Amino acid sequence: MTAHASSPALAAAWARLAREGQRLAGTRIEQLFATDPNRTAVYSRAGLLTCFDFSRTLIDRKAMDALLALAEAAGVADARDAMFAGAPINRTEGRSVLHVALRAAKGSAYAANGRPVSAEVDAVRAQMDAFAEKVRSGAWTGHTGKRIRAVVNIGIGGSDLGPRLVADALRPYLSPELALHFVSNVDGEDMARVLGRVSPEETLFIVASKTFTTQETLANARSARAWVLASGAPESAIARHFVAVSTNADAVAAFGISPENMFVFWDWVGGRYSVWSAIGLSLVLGLGPAGFEEFLSGARSMDDHFLGTPLADNLPVLAALVGIWHRNVLGCASRAVVPYDERLALLPAYLQQLEMESNGKSVTIDGGPVARATSPVVWGGAGTNGQHAYFQLLHQGTDIIPVDFIGCALPDHALAGHHRLLMANLFAQAHALMTGRPAPDAASPHKAFPGNRPSTLYLVERLTPSRLGALLALHEHRVFTEGVIWSIASFDQWGVELGKEIARSLLREGPPGERGALGWYNRHARAEDRLAGLPAPAAAGASIKAN
Ligand code: F6P
Repeated sequence: MTAHASSPALAAAWARLAREGQRLAGTRIEQLFATDPNRTAVYSRAGLLTCFDFSRTLIDRKAMDALLALAEAAGVADARDAMFAGAPINRTEGRSVLHVALRAAKGSAYAANGRPVSAEVDAVRAQMDAFAEKVRSGAWTGHTGKRIRAVVNIGIGGSDLGPRLVADALRPYLSPELALHFVSNVDGEDMARVLGRVSPEETLFIVASKTFTTQETLANARSARAWVLASGAPESAIARHFVAVSTNADAVAAFGISPENMFVFWDWVGGRYSVWSAIGLSLVLGLGPAGFEEFLSGARSMDDHFLGTPLADNLPVLAALVGIWHRNVLGCASRAVVPYDERLALLPAYLQQLEMESNGKSVTIDGGPVARATSPVVWGGAGTNGQHAYFQLLHQGTDIIPVDFIGCALPDHALAGHHRLLMANLFAQAHALMTGRPAPDAASPHKAFPGNRPSTLYLVERLTPSRLGALLALHEHRVFTEGVIWSIASFDQWGVELGKEIARSLLREGPPGERGALGWYNRHARAEDRLAGLPAPAAAGASIKAN
């Protein structure tokens, strides 16, 4: 199991790592290349048609040994095995963590804290496949007998970001017959835009929420329901146009969606780890059951790799150790994720939730304060766009921000020359960050590039469903490994609760007259509602009041 945060062996491993950091302070990454002609080969790993290159970091052999010793001392291998074995490693919620069971081969034998789960997983997968076949073939129609042409996934956070990313990334694999839309924000603008593009007779709404209590998702689902009924559809039409994905059958029934239209998953699936579950229903509809299975199989191959490969060659572990080096040795508080691939433009947002919600913690798994920094701020966007925006800061700003570059060897389009140009830019940026360049003359200090700025490269051969599955699973296991090393609880998210509670209490109507921004808002919201001829906020519940 995970080492106790205060174990002497762990403390010694951290101290050893700190010494390596001190030894390398003042060294430049280029010097490491100069002293080791094999550096690129030694500090990169290729496998699963994926290449991970971390040679452009300040890690050398002794630093790597210290990092691996830290992983050993933290009990990474034991923690990993405990997760796969279904032990309740999500201690603050008393749950197992078994998203790996969702993508296991059919007929596997996973158990959550001793309770077999694989048969249920297989049954839900079969239910999803059968439903998707019906919709895709036209056997499942809307209430007027028309084919379903649009699917709208209503969900937020983990019930949105994964399917949204995968649908965007794998667009060439999606059925052209079925448009996929995603609505997450409670801002009515989000829903209104999508409703403006679809027809009530031809649209299937998937209400995706693990808890089925999420304010934004329920508000959006209610609006979608009202929109369908307002089109003249009878109440009975709801069953043709709404399905739910949740762990909470009672809340789904209370919402008015019948159990036959519900796809379940389980409390041992974290929201941000749920794209592999029924939360991926929109993807089964879009990609078809075989395409979704291919996506799962890629993740499965990464699970096998994570489980069966020594730490020194283990891609998620190596990626985690690089992250630890940058966060805890170099003190980098932020990391940029820059996919040089338009199809992966949503990856930074996905990883932001995966990492920051998992590892943005300041209490250890044993309840004490953490001794060192945990998750960095994760942000980014697609290259080359960023080069004409925030790359200025990456090259010349006062903070060192490690960059994860992500690219694909082969594109899906046939526009000659574009891909070579794109990839040339990716490699050029990684190189420029590392080497830098002195100012041309004493009068131009602003033209100096300090260099010595680290980056890593993740390359996949082609962005197929299976490669994407493997890439996402790699990041899941990287986040897990970092959490074990930091001795934190990566699978809870208590930090999102307070704001939700205050928002609920603010929704209670009260007398006007608050000062500051809240008072300003209430006065203006009232004026706006009057102008629009809407009921006063008191009736509509729009005015808000601080506790
Ligand atoms: O508020 C955070 C969070 O709970 C995430 O962890 C989760 O992915 C998201 O909200 C959505 O939750 P649900 O799927 O229960 O609607």
